[in-house]
Amino acid sequence: MSWHTSVIGTGYLGAVHAVGMAELGYTVVGVDVDPVKIAALQEGHAPFYEPDLDPLIRKHVDGGRLRFTTDIAHAADADVHFVCVGTPQRRDGLAADLTFLEAAMDSLAAVLHRSCLVVGKSTIPVGTADRLAARLAEIAPAGQGVELAWNPEFLREGHALADTLHPDRLVFGVRSERAERTLREVYAPVIADDVPVVVTDIPTAELVKASANAFLATKISFINAMAEICEVTGADVSKLAEALGYDLRIGRRFLNAGLGFGGGCLPKDIRAFIARAGEIGAAQSLAFLAEVDAVNLRRRERAADIALEMVGGSVTGKRIAVLGAAFKPDSDDVRDSPALTVAGQLHLQGATVTVHDPKAMDNARRIFPTLTYAESTIAACRHADVVLHLTEWSEFREVDPAVLGEVVNRRNVVDGRNCLDAGAWRAAGWSYRSLGRP
Ligand code: UDX
Repeated sequence: MSWHTSVIGTGYLGAVHAVGMAELGYTVVGVDVDPVKIAALQEGHAPFYEPDLDPLIRKHVDGGRLRFTTDIAHAADADVHFVCVGTPQRRDGLAADLTFLEAAMDSLAAVLHRSCLVVGKSTIPVGTADRLAARLAEIAPAGQGVELAWNPEFLREGHALADTLHPDRLVFGVRSERAERTLREVYAPVIADDVPVVVTDIPTAELVKASANAFLATKISFINAMAEICEVTGADVSKLAEALGYDLRIGRRFLNAGLGFGGGCLPKDIRAFIARAGEIGAAQSLAFLAEVDAVNLRRRERAADIALEMVGGSVTGKRIAVLGAAFKPDSDDVRDSPALTVAGQLHLQGATVTVHDPKAMDNARRIFPTLTYAESTIAACRHADVVLHLTEWSEFREVDPAVLGEVVNRRNVVDGRNCLDAGAWRAAGWSYRSLGRP
């Protein structure tokens, strides 16, 4: 069947999902309240950097299958509505801010005159969907004909389209066989690729996402806590991770020690989970997540401290080159970026900090306008007293340390991501320090 779909919210999740549905052969209306975002998408440009996405947006917009609008009424005739609105951290606490999601649901509900399935994909605190379902039924002219399901999304930035079309698993939180049937049909081309489907009640579906991100964050903070122990004992956390990773029960993935996790998901999702646990009287169950958060943030301080040590105990008046601004490579996302936190801290302590990032410079400039930005790695490192490698773009990993050594003031490097070739840098005359390795 060729489905008519709508995607409400065209941020990271929504824009990619809209393209994914068009790739599956369905018609898609993408709706957002931000006219600038909508105009860019209609022109074929995602409002963020994601490899290979723009050509596909263009292909489907030109082919007529995909269109973008600010007018929610254009979504009214879809059979299935995917709600992909962001749920950021609240300004006044740890909990998720649901105001955008609630507003989107209310405005969608108002135009739903016919039976349809509304599929939430945003990450929400457990218990939210039941409340949203009640509002939908109350506001929608089609009343009980409008059903809500929850279908969490696990995509990683930088791999977003592949993760959408070839996910590890699909999770359908449903209240009826009809909703399950619809989701199975919509995702049939994905499921045909042997993708496991877990069908569950709605609270479990809500929890899958929160707990998946909590587990991933815990795994990263676990290895970073081991890095702290390695620093005290002279052990090597990279070797430790390698040896642990061969145990299939542990696995090597997400055991890269370094500056820790950032971005628009893991940090705010673990905090929202902590807040929700408190609301439902289960604070103790997630008390460890506060420690996960603390270990993670300590790594940023540690990187700044190592830089300080390398330049003799004070950064005032020193020149520091920061390689990387995005929270991870292949992304221009600087939300809660560990690299920028370190850069900002050193700048506040009196250093002249020059940042280079292959894609995230514009976004970085917007939130840290007081840092200096350079258009190339070499330009960022010119006359530097210490070079900080903070986001592991391949461009930085491939830098020739001998060539870079020619332009710096002092050959000091801090490898915040533990992925430069320490031997090669030392051989080229650099003092090389990293997190959790001798
Ligand atoms: C994450 C989840 O992976 C994804 O399933 C969810 O849908 C959204 O949140 P994303 O934020 O795109 O995705 O990034 P991810 O690749 O998971 O990395 C998160 C952060 O952890 C990055 O800052 C990365 O540098 C860091 N990280 C990751 C480590 O420090 N060590 C690791 O071993 C892995």
